[in-house]
Amino acid sequence: MAFGAIMALLSATPALAGEGVKVDHLGVNNALVRVTSPGAYLLLPVEENCGDATVQLLVDGTLAKTLYVRLAKNKVDYLVPLPISEYRGKEVMLNVTPHHGSATLDHSKKDLCWDAFTVADSFDTANREKYRPAYHHTPLYGWMNDPNGMVYRDGTWHLYYQYNPYGSKWQNMTWGHSTSTDLLHWTPQPLAIEPDALGSIFSGSCALDPQNTAGFGADAILAMYTSAGASQVQSLAHSKDGGITFEKYPGNPTLPFESEARDPNMFWNPEINQWNLILAHPLDHEMLIFTSPDMKTWTLQSAFGRGLGSQDGVWECPDLFPLTVDGSDEKKWVLLCNLNPGGPFGGSATQYFIGDFDGKTFTPDLDATGKVPTKWMDFGKDHYATVSWSDAPDGRRTVIGWMSNWQYADAVPTMQYRSANTLPRDLSLFRVPDGECYLASRPSPEVDHLCAGVVKSVKSLNVAAKEKSYTIPALCEIAFEIAPKDAKDIIVTLSNAQGEKVETVYDAARGVFSFDRTRSGAVDFSRDFPAVTTAPAFSKDGNLSLRIFIDRSSVEVFEADGRAVMTNLVFPTSPYTTLSFKTKKGSAQIKNLKIYSINEN
Ligand code: FRU
Repeated sequence: MAFGAIMALLSATPALAGEGVKVDHLGVNNALVRVTSPGAYLLLPVEENCGDATVQLLVDGTLAKTLYVRLAKNKVDYLVPLPISEYRGKEVMLNVTPHHGSATLDHSKKDLCWDAFTVADSFDTANREKYRPAYHHTPLYGWMNDPNGMVYRDGTWHLYYQYNPYGSKWQNMTWGHSTSTDLLHWTPQPLAIEPDALGSIFSGSCALDPQNTAGFGADAILAMYTSAGASQVQSLAHSKDGGITFEKYPGNPTLPFESEARDPNMFWNPEINQWNLILAHPLDHEMLIFTSPDMKTWTLQSAFGRGLGSQDGVWECPDLFPLTVDGSDEKKWVLLCNLNPGGPFGGSATQYFIGDFDGKTFTPDLDATGKVPTKWMDFGKDHYATVSWSDAPDGRRTVIGWMSNWQYADAVPTMQYRSANTLPRDLSLFRVPDGECYLASRPSPEVDHLCAGVVKSVKSLNVAAKEKSYTIPALCEIAFEIAPKDAKDIIVTLSNAQGEKVETVYDAARGVFSFDRTRSGAVDFSRDFPAVTTAPAFSKDGNLSLRIFIDRSSVEVFEADGRAVMTNLVFPTSPYTTLSFKTKKGSAQIKNLKIYSINEN
C-alpha cells in the first residue's frame, strides 16, 4: 500500500460513485464488482453497523485475497482503499457476498454499496477527527490493536501492530507498520505481513539474528506470529530489507499446538545459547516456555501461571526479560502477562511477575506471606498488550502499549481510525522498604523532547478548600509535587468551559491517588467507560510528584519516577483549558509546578 500522493479527493459521501466500476448481480446477496478503468485503489464503502461481507479479490480469475468488509447498506460512513495498481493490465474483480440478508434480488440491488465502489488514484488520509492524538502513534486510518514485533535496528524503532486496513473495527488481522527515529514521530510504512491460507496474522515478535541461527542471513530480521485460522499455530517470516517486507517461511507453521496458543514472544538467550519463546496459552491462563536452536524446531520446557495472578480472563501477549534492581546489581526476570478481562478496573490490563529464569523455567518470587503476588503495570483502564522492543540500544527496556480496552475499543467516538498507542516508557525495577520488588514505567527519555516551552512555572503554591486555577494549553505536560501537609485529599482538576472534567485525587492518608473520568466528556458510548481508577502512590515521605500528559483523547498520569502510572482515554467536547488545585479539608503545598506546551507532531 502506498501512502504517497494524498489528494483531498474523498469525502464521506463519494461524489464519484461507481466510477471505474461495473456491478453484475449474480443472485440474492452475491455480485461481481468489475474494475473497468485503471487506478491505484478500489475504494470500498463501509457502514460500521453492517455485518462483514465476504470480498474475494479475483485477478485474471484467480483468488488473490479474501477480505471481510462491512459494506454499506443504508449509508456510507467512510471509504477504505484496496490497492490495485499492482494488477494493472489484468482483469480485476471482487466477488462479493454481503451479509445484509436481503430476501430478494431486487432488495439486494438496493444496497448502497453497489453505487459507491469507486476506482481512484489517491486516498485522502488527512486527519478529519478531533480526537486523533497529536503526539501518540495512530494508524492513518483503520483499526489498530496490539503493538507487535517491535525491534530496534540501525537507529530505527520499528512498531508493527495488529491492523485492519479495511475498516475501523477489528477484522482482517494484518501487521501494520510504522517507523521512528525518536519514538515520537512515526512514519507510516506499507503493510508488513498480510493474511494467507493459514489464517490472519495475530500478534507476535521480531528479533535480529546476527549469528544467522535461522539461516536467513546475519542481516535478517526474524518475525514470529500466530497464524489464526481454523486453529492457532505459530509461523515464521524474515525480512532482508530492514523490516519493510517479510518473506514467510515455506515450512510454516513452525509450531503447531493441540490447543489455542498465540502471541509468540521470542528472544535469543545468550545464557543458554538458544532461542527462548514465551507463548500464551490463553484459555489455561498460563504461558508456555520453549527453546530452539534455529527458530524452526521448538521444545516445550515448562508452563507458568496456572492458578497464579489474576485468572479472571485469557492470558495473552507475554514478554520476558531481565532487569537490574535500581541501586544494586541484582538481576531479576520480569514476565509480562496481559490479561483480558480481569483487569483491576474491568476489562484489559497488564499483570506481571518478577522472578528468576534459567532458560527453561520461570520461578516467581514470593511475597512476605509466601504467596506469588499479583502486580499491575499500569493502573488506568487503557493500557493493554504492552510488550517491549527487541534489541533496544544502551541496554534499554522500552515498551509501548495499546491505549484502549477490549470493553469498548470499537465503540470509542472516532471512525477514520481507531486506537492509539501509549507514550513509550522505559522500565526499571525498584524495591520498597518491605522488600517487595516492582516495575517502574517512566516516560522514555525521548518524551522530554515533546516540550515546546514552559508556559507557567510556580515555585510554591498553598492550596486549601478554595480552588486555585491556571490556564493550560490543549496539548501539554503538567509536572508538580504535592506536599500534603495536613490535607487528606488533594484534588487536581482538568476542566473545560462545558464543565467537563477529570479529577486526580491524592489521598495521602491512604497512600493512593485516583483518576476520575466519569464526567470527562463523551462517556456514554459504553457503560464500562465511566470509571475511577486508583494507584498506589509509593511515596517515600508522603509527598507525591506527578507528570501528567494531556493529548486530544488521553491523559497519562505518571508518578514522576514511574512507580505508578494511570493511562486513561478521555473524550472531552472541547479540550480541557483549566488546571485547578484544591483540598477537601486542610491545606497542602504544591511545589515546582511547571506547565509545558506540546506541539502537534
Ligand atoms: C490481544 C489479542 C491477541 C491476539 C490479537 C488479535 O489483544 O487478543 O491475543 O493475537 O489480539 O488481534
